[in-house]
Amino acid sequence: MYNATEAEKEQKAGNIKMNFDLNNLVRENIKKLVPYSSARDEFKGEANVFLDANENSLGSPLTKWYNRYPDPLQIKVKEKLSTIKGVPVNNTFLGNGSDECIDVLIRAFCEPGIDNILICPPTYGMYQVSADINNAAVKKVRLTPDFQLDLPGIEQAIDGDTKMIFICSPNNPTGNSLHREDVEVLLNNFFGLVVIDEAYINFSRFKSFSSSLAEYPNLVVMQTFSKAWGLAALRLGIAFASEEIIHIMNKIKPPYNINQASQELGLKAMDEVEQVNDMIRILVEERELLKSSLAQLPLVEKIYPSDANFLLVKVMDASKAYDFLLSKGIVVRDRSRVELCEGCLRVTIGSADENIQLLNALSEMR
Ligand SMILES: Cc1ncc(COP(=O)(O)O)c(C=O)c1O
Repeated sequence: MYNATEAEKEQKAGNIKMNFDLNNLVRENIKKLVPYSSARDEFKGEANVFLDANENSLGSPLTKWYNRYPDPLQIKVKEKLSTIKGVPVNNTFLGNGSDECIDVLIRAFCEPGIDNILICPPTYGMYQVSADINNAAVKKVRLTPDFQLDLPGIEQAIDGDTKMIFICSPNNPTGNSLHREDVEVLLNNFFGLVVIDEAYINFSRFKSFSSSLAEYPNLVVMQTFSKAWGLAALRLGIAFASEEIIHIMNKIKPPYNINQASQELGLKAMDEVEQVNDMIRILVEERELLKSSLAQLPLVEKIYPSDANFLLVKVMDASKAYDFLLSKGIVVRDRSRVELCEGCLRVTIGSADENIQLLNALSEMR
């Protein structure tokens, strides 16, 4: 049994989860913030003459709708997304790419110069960059050699100012999924937010955490239209979380963060679920084909298991291989200077033809 003082001390040390209270996590100035009220926020009802937002009343050189500001809360997009993902509209935030979701989360919860986030390298680079921009310290607990969470290391590293842990699963650049039970340990015991970045979830054998929102008030799940959906250019990122967390994110986002063209095209794309599923199936098949063909090449030392649309491949001389591929017009990502990825290239799964070009080029290398 913990007495109050011991429990407080332990909580400060990050060892046990007290009753989760979002109010303790949000920055004071954000709690008090009166969000910008746009013309479209203030107007409710029916009208046909819009003289409230200083738009161009004559129209635009494009279609007639582009002279108007878009829906700040993107309700139609969220409604359609909800029918696909099964997550209610009120639990959904849309960002200008998931990169904006990362930035909004850090700005909402991390007091600059005081609070910190925890990341598990090697992982996606924007968690660190967004934290640096917002002057939030970054605690790093390396993944284990088999690229899984080091739970004792995380327990030791967190302190009372750790506001969120970023978990990437499937992880970039390693490609593997993190063990669900390990993530659940964090969700059950960490008193801050556990942000699970599922950018590559559609290529994975494992199910999303998005169906567990009701169980975990400290869970944020990020997904994106940039990968499986093939819409990186539209900049549509998703965060699923409790209504309270989504409310805070909406409060601080720029009012019109998703432009009208992206909203319209995102809606249109969501009519093509079958085509997207076909692309996912083909890319997963190509991943397995590429994996077995790469394994035949003498310069390939190891190919790591992947649940994503890329492979982390250890080769004999990574920078030489990188330069050689570039000389053939093929660009991959050199990850050889990243901790735990020494000697590795990260290769996105291409079309069948592109994968053959890659294999032919690598087999020519001496
Ligand atoms: C793990 C991970 N999260 C997020 C992103 C960024 O996604 P978006 O295009 O939605 O900003 C990437 C992009 O490569 C990524 O690898």
